Amino acid sequence: MLRRLHPEQPESFAFTPANQAWAEGQITKYPEGRQASAIIPLLWRAQEQEGWLSRPAIEHVADMLDMAYIRALEVASFYFMFQLQPTGSVAHVQVCGTTSCMICGAEDLMAVCKEKISPKPHGISADGKLSWEEVECLGSCANAPMAQIGKDYYEDLTAESFGKLLDALVAGEVPVPGPQNGRYSSEPKDGLTSLAEGAGDRAEYNASVALAMEIGDTVKRIDGTEVPLLTPWLKDGASQVKTKAAPKTDMKAETKPTQQSAPEPAPGAQATPSKPDTLDGARDGKPDDLKMIKGVGPKLEELLHEMGFYHFDQIASWTEAEIAWVDENLEGFRGRVSRDDWVSQAKQLASGEETDFAKRAKDEGIYDGD
Ligand code: FES
Repeated sequence: MLRRLHPEQPESFAFTPANQAWAEGQITKYPEGRQASAIIPLLWRAQEQEGWLSRPAIEHVADMLDMAYIRALEVASFYFMFQLQPTGSVAHVQVCGTTSCMICGAEDLMAVCKEKISPKPHGISADGKLSWEEVECLGSCANAPMAQIGKDYYEDLTAESFGKLLDALVAGEVPVPGPQNGRYSSEPKDGLTSLAEGAGDRAEYNASVALAMEIGDTVKRIDGTEVPLLTPWLKDGASQVKTKAAPKTDMKAETKPTQQSAPEPAPGAQATPSKPDTLDGARDGKPDDLKMIKGVGPKLEELLHEMGFYHFDQIASWTEAEIAWVDENLEGFRGRVSRDDWVSQAKQLASGEETDFAKRAKDEGIYDGD
């Protein structure tokens, strides 16, 4: 399969402060001169943040690692786990199309994707929420056919159960992952034939499903609001890491870009969450249409109102610490503020400007989010 950069690219890319600190911490795992070894985790983090890898994101990571852009592009285009085109805002669905799954009905699942998401793999659904692709064996052959959605496996699928799953995701629900036909894990459908003692005492879900349910959002991307930076080998965590300026050079450059080294302390650990000011109600009883912010749909708007946020200027004024607080407290939607950069969008909207998304949303009467 030909893997190329997408024809439409964003202007720029930057890690969120928390992700930047995490990335810089990862680089310190490698000895001097071997920083390029951090390429895969850094590209992955960029993809987690944005949903896909844009050219500016690849170049940003290359700059951080003192690599020629072409070398970073080689890695990004080699591994199929890197998405080189935009993906659905809610989830990217990966349907296994290898032998066991194919024998057990993978083609039926792909037909559902074609009908509900897009006729071709890597297309995005009309509402922008889902995308899909066929992938090779995901190692869950005993529960074929199956699909990976977000970070979790949905197994023992039928076209009907899979279609319902996709509908639930679009509706902002959090489906329970794991076997969808009543099996606990991969035991015989008719029940255990050995090691049956104690089966009645088992937990409600198998360990993988239990962890997903504990997190409470099976399609949540890593966004830096998780357990803080794991760099115990650094005395003061990420603040010991030196950053490098990002030179502007062309992807075509075969030689390593010149680094204008401007060492500065990296952003420290994630800001301590702090609750922003809230309102008891919308001013003059007229809330702004928060659905004009990309990533906010009716459910999230309702949640924001319950929390005391009604206006663009409230969101526009959030500091890093306040973003961290809201991200943590958006029950069921944690991390969405950073993920979709609500604050930049709200600043534009509060100043009376229209974002591209708001314009499209108004013209087409759509919104993008939960
Ligand atoms: S063949 Fe589908 S998970 Fe292995």
